[in-house]
Amino acid sequence: MSEGLVTVSYIASTILFILSLGGLSNPETSRRGNHYGIAGMAIAILATLLGPKVTSIVPVIIAMLIGGGVGMTAAKRVQMTQMPELVALMHSLVGLAAVLIGYTSYVDNSIEFFGVEKTIHEVEIYIGILIGAVTFSGSVIAFGKLSGRLSGKPLLLPARHLLNLAGLLAVIWCCSLFINVASHGAGMLFLFVMTFIALAFGVHMVMAIGGADMPVVVSMLNSYSGWAASATGFMLSNDLLIVTGALVGSSGAILSYIMCRAMNRNFFSVIAGGFGTAGGTVVAAGDAQQGEVQPIDAEETADLLRNAGKVIFVPGYGMAVAQAQHTVCEITKLLRAKGIDVHFAIHPVAGRMPGHMNVLLAEARVPYDIVAEMDEINADFPKTDLVMVIGANDIVNPGAQDDPNSPIAGMPVLEVWKARTSIVMKRSMASGYAGVDNPLFYKENNRMLFGDAKKMLDEVLTALRAG
Ligand code: TAP
Repeated sequence: MSEGLVTVSYIASTILFILSLGGLSNPETSRRGNHYGIAGMAIAILATLLGPKVTSIVPVIIAMLIGGGVGMTAAKRVQMTQMPELVALMHSLVGLAAVLIGYTSYVDNSIEFFGVEKTIHEVEIYIGILIGAVTFSGSVIAFGKLSGRLSGKPLLLPARHLLNLAGLLAVIWCCSLFINVASHGAGMLFLFVMTFIALAFGVHMVMAIGGADMPVVVSMLNSYSGWAASATGFMLSNDLLIVTGALVGSSGAILSYIMCRAMNRNFFSVIAGGFGTAGGTVVAAGDAQQGEVQPIDAEETADLLRNAGKVIFVPGYGMAVAQAQHTVCEITKLLRAKGIDVHFAIHPVAGRMPGHMNVLLAEARVPYDIVAEMDEINADFPKTDLVMVIGANDIVNPGAQDDPNSPIAGMPVLEVWKARTSIVMKRSMASGYAGVDNPLFYKENNRMLFGDAKKMLDEVLTALRAG
């Protein structure tokens, strides 16, 4: 394939990627968006493989078969609740690839660069390895935190901001030494030092972020992986990789901004770490605050549902764990058939990844027009007879508004306690991801329906059908 045809194919891929991003911005068009993305990637891979830069296709095919096989097996085996961890792991691989390509480009002397071109090439390598190393180690730690292998508590080293600043200055200093160095050996030494600092920074940055602020980290690492891919594109002089990386990087940055706004956080404060550290009522999972809760059973829940005029379901991480979305959909159909007004309220950080709840509800074929975002529906709670909180906790915690010392203070939440009655479905009195107790459970108008969400909703559905 000629260079010209490769360029045309790359432009076609870029357009398909942009259409894909556009499609993914709405649940109704997201399937189409995915298809555009697949088509764009297929064209990109074929054009690269058949293009003039690939001189020996067999090793590339072998590598693709191994990588593709591992990726396909992982994607097939992964549970929906483990998806965020898998995504974090994938981001780490993008970072690692940027680091390895950076080192390879530096030792590769098949093309000689001189003067300004040499400086530009070296800066590309340096920045590529830097972003790649931060993405790699940060994503590995995010994987650990999201999978529960590492504690969600923020690690607060003394003088952590000074440490970050010292790291930044050392990286800039190493860069100037690296560019002016005469021998490859000495250059390698500066690259090693910078890589070590970048890896340590990635670990420190994510370790310092408190549990409730993890959504921002997930989207931020998504953005970093894009910039790492873009940097790789510069090193390999591959225009499509530069553009695709920039698309991922900028959409990830926009997502981070949206997440920060949803959580009422300042982006730079989250990155600097330390959020989620204030005293508050932090409890270990399983501990309970003093107070009386009022349990309810499935029959009584079905009665309340039957007699309500307006019902709102609030899904959270527990719905994903229990895979209760299909039963919720069945209950929704039944209630709507009886003329009851049913809606779903989605908090922007519900679950463990952006759009987690929307994906589950779409999978269960809940109609999109009854699914509302937090801003659209928060004013409706005082006019609602019954709110069913399905495995959600932090996103309905009134402490975020009432307790200035709470680790989640200031985070906008779904004001479910303003409804006539709320029912919280969960298995125990354990805290949610942020590790804080929830005063909602002890409110007079709240009832607790204890048990696995799927099992309990099945019982509610049976009682509704019988009634
Ligand atoms: P959480 O606050 O984590 O609460 C989930 C609740 O579900 C738990 O309290 C748990 O209580 C219950 N649960 C678990 N398994 C269940 C089952 N099988 N049946 C019934 N209940 C079950 O979830 P949330 O309210 O969705 O809030 C999300 C949290 O995750 C926020 O703190 C957010 O910052 C964080 N986070 C979000 C993201 C993104 S991007 N969305 C990423 C990382 C972190 P029991 O154990 O008592 O059942």
